[in-house]
Amino acid sequence: MGYQEVYDGWKQDPEAFWMQAAQAIDWVKAPTKALFDDNAPLYEWFCDSKVNTCYNAVDRHVEAGRGEQIAIIHDSPITGTKHEITYGELQTRVSLLAGALRAKGIEKGDRVIIYMPMVPEALEAMLACARLGAIHSVVFGGFAANELAVRIDDATPKAIIAASCGLEPGRVIHYKPLLDGAIELATHKPEFCVIFQREQEVAKLEDGRDYDWHGFQAGVAPAECVAVEGDHPAYILYTSGTTGAPKGVVRPTAGHLVAMNWTMKNIYNVDPGDVFWAASDVGWVVGHSYICYAPLIHGNTTIVFEGKPVGTPDAGTFWRVISEHNVRSFFTAPTAFRAIKREDPKGELIKDYDISCLRALYLAGERADPDTIEWAQRVMGVPVYDHWWQTETGYTIVGNPTGIEALPVKIGSPTVPMPGYDVQILDDAGHPMAANELGAIAIKLPLPPGTLPTLWNAEDRYKKSYLNTFPGYYETGDAGMIDDDGYLYIMARTDDVINVAGHRLSTGGMEEVLAAHPDVAECAVIGVSDQLKGQLPVGFLCLNSGAGRDNAEVVKEVIQLVREKIGPVAAFKLAIVVDRLPKTRSGKILRATMVSIADGKDYKMPATIDDPAILDEIKTALQSIGYAGG
Ligand code: COA
Ligand code: AMP
Repeated sequence: MGYQEVYDGWKQDPEAFWMQAAQAIDWVKAPTKALFDDNAPLYEWFCDSKVNTCYNAVDRHVEAGRGEQIAIIHDSPITGTKHEITYGELQTRVSLLAGALRAKGIEKGDRVIIYMPMVPEALEAMLACARLGAIHSVVFGGFAANELAVRIDDATPKAIIAASCGLEPGRVIHYKPLLDGAIELATHKPEFCVIFQREQEVAKLEDGRDYDWHGFQAGVAPAECVAVEGDHPAYILYTSGTTGAPKGVVRPTAGHLVAMNWTMKNIYNVDPGDVFWAASDVGWVVGHSYICYAPLIHGNTTIVFEGKPVGTPDAGTFWRVISEHNVRSFFTAPTAFRAIKREDPKGELIKDYDISCLRALYLAGERADPDTIEWAQRVMGVPVYDHWWQTETGYTIVGNPTGIEALPVKIGSPTVPMPGYDVQILDDAGHPMAANELGAIAIKLPLPPGTLPTLWNAEDRYKKSYLNTFPGYYETGDAGMIDDDGYLYIMARTDDVINVAGHRLSTGGMEEVLAAHPDVAECAVIGVSDQLKGQLPVGFLCLNSGAGRDNAEVVKEVIQLVREKIGPVAAFKLAIVVDRLPKTRSGKILRATMVSIADGKDYKMPATIDDPAILDEIKTALQSIGYAGG
C-alpha cells in the first residue's frame, strides 16, 4: 500500500486504523476502542486499557529473547568514553532504580522531576518512573535555576533526580548548585532528591534530603511494572508559549505507546534491532520521543550522544558516530548541519569515514533551509527528509513516510500529513483556504493518539491556547500553505515564540526578565534571522528618564539577567537602547515590522502606526549591531 492509500484508509476509518496500530503494543488489558470523545473538544485515546510503558520499552524485548541486544549506546566525545547497555542490563538497572524510588514512597501518579545531561542514567530515570506509573518531567540542563523552580512549583514533584554536573565543551555545568538554588526559590519542596554523581564532579549532598544514586539502591527489591490506565499521564514536558510561564504538555500513556511504535517503521523506516540515532537532548521533545521512548518501544538500539556537532573534537564527529555504531536512520536539527557546513564547507572530514550503513537523514525542530538540505544530500549521499512537528504532538504531523513509500522531496516542504492529521490552512475567520494561499495552519480535531489531551493543571489555558481560535480545530501557532500536490510549507510562527538553534523560546518570557531591570521603562524582544541558529533574540530597551546610566552597562546587565533567569540556552547576547518603540495608535508594539527591518525585508508601513519616524530610529539602532544591512 502506498502513502495515499494508507492516508485515505485512516481518514475513512480512524478507529480501525488506530486499533490495528495498537496491536503492536503489549497490553495488560487491551483497549475495546480507540477514541473517547464524550468530553469533546477534549479527546482521549485507549482510555479503557491498562498498560505499562516501561514493560513495552524494556521487559517485553527481554522476554522475547532479545536481552543480549544493545538497547543504549552512550557515546561521549566530551569525556572520551563509550559504553553499551543491553536490554537485559537495562531491565535490571531500571527495575532496581524503580525499586529504590518505590522504597522512598514514589507511587503511581507522583511527579518526579529529572534534571540530567546526556547520560544513559537520564533514560533509566525516565523508564523507572514509567515502571511505577510516576509522571516524570525532564528539565533541560541549559535552563537556569529560576526556570527549574517554575517547573517545580507547577509539577509539585515528590522527588527530583539530578546529576552532579553536565558537561559542555570546555566547561562543567554545576547542576547541584542550580538544583539547590531552584529548590530554595520554589514554594513547593520535594521530599527527596537522588543525585547521580559523575566522576567529573562530586556534589555535596544535603543530609536527610539528598540520596546518592548508587547508595540508595543498595539492597532494595527490584520493582515490577505497574499497570496504568490508557489516559494516565506518562510525562509532562514544559515548552515555551507566549508568556514566561511555560506550558506543561501532558503525554498520555497508551496513545504515546501506539504512536511512538507506529512512527519507527512508517516514518523512520527502521526494523527492530536497527540502530537509530537522534542527536538532540533528553530535555526536548525529540529526546523524549526519539532518544528514549520510540526506539526502545520498537526494539531498536538508541544512541545517547554527549557532544556537539562541531568542536567535540571536530566537524567529523557525526560521521564517526554513524559509521562506528552502524546507524541506519539519523535525526537532528538543521542547525547542527549548518554548524558542520560552516566548519567544513567541502565536507572533507566525511572522507575519513564509511557511512554506507546510513539510509536517510531526518531534520526537524526548525525550518530546514534549502542550502543546508542540498549540502547534506551532496556530502552524505543519502536522502534528506524534513519533517514538521511540535512538543505538543510528540511526533510528525507532516513528513515523508519513507517506511510506507518515499515520496518525491520538494525542498522547502516537510512533505505531506501523516495518517491521524487532517491539516488545513485557515483564514482569520477560520475558513479553509485555497491551495497556495498563506494562512494559519490548523489540525482538524481530534488530534491522533499520543498528542496532548490538555496542559498540566491548566485546562483553560489549553483551550485558550489551542482550541478557541478555530472551533473544531487545533491551532498550531504556525502559518503556511499547502500546494496543489498537498505538500505543506511552513512559513512563520503566528505568536511570540522564536526558534534558536532548534530550541523553542518565548520572546515574551525574555521581555518579562528585561522589564524587571530597575532602569528599564519599556522593552521588546524580537527574533532576527541568523545564519547558524536560524533565529537569535534581540532586545530593545527604553530606559527610565533620569536613570543616568551608561547604556552599555545596562545592556551588559540585562544580558546577564536573562542568562541568570532563563539560562544560557536563550542565547540572549544582543540588546540595544532606543528612545522609543514603534507602536500602533492603540499602543501595541510592532514587533513583526521590527523583524522585517532587522532582516532587511520589505514591509508595509502599518496603517495604524503612531509615528513612522520611529522605524528609522529602529533601523539605525539595528545597524549599530550589524543588522538591517548594517
Ligand atoms: N546544559 C548547560 N548549558 C547548555 C546546554 C546544556 N545541556 N546546552 C547548551 N548550553 C549552553 C551552551 O554552552 C551555550 O552557552 P554559552 O552562551 O556560554 O556559549 C548556550 O547554552 C547556547 O547553546 P547552543 O544553542 O547549543 O549554542 P552553541 O553555540 O553552544 O552551539 C550548535 C551551537 C549549533 C553547535 C548547537 O546549538 C547545536 O548542536 N545544535 C543542535 C540543535 C539541537 O540539538 N536541537 C535540539 C532540538 S531537535
Ligand atoms: P518544538 O515544540 O520545540 O518542537 O517546536 C515546534 C515548532 O518548531 C513548530 O511549531 C515550528 O514553528 C518549528 N518547527 C518544527 N519543525 C519544523 C520544520 N520541519 N520546519 C519548520 N518549522 C519547524
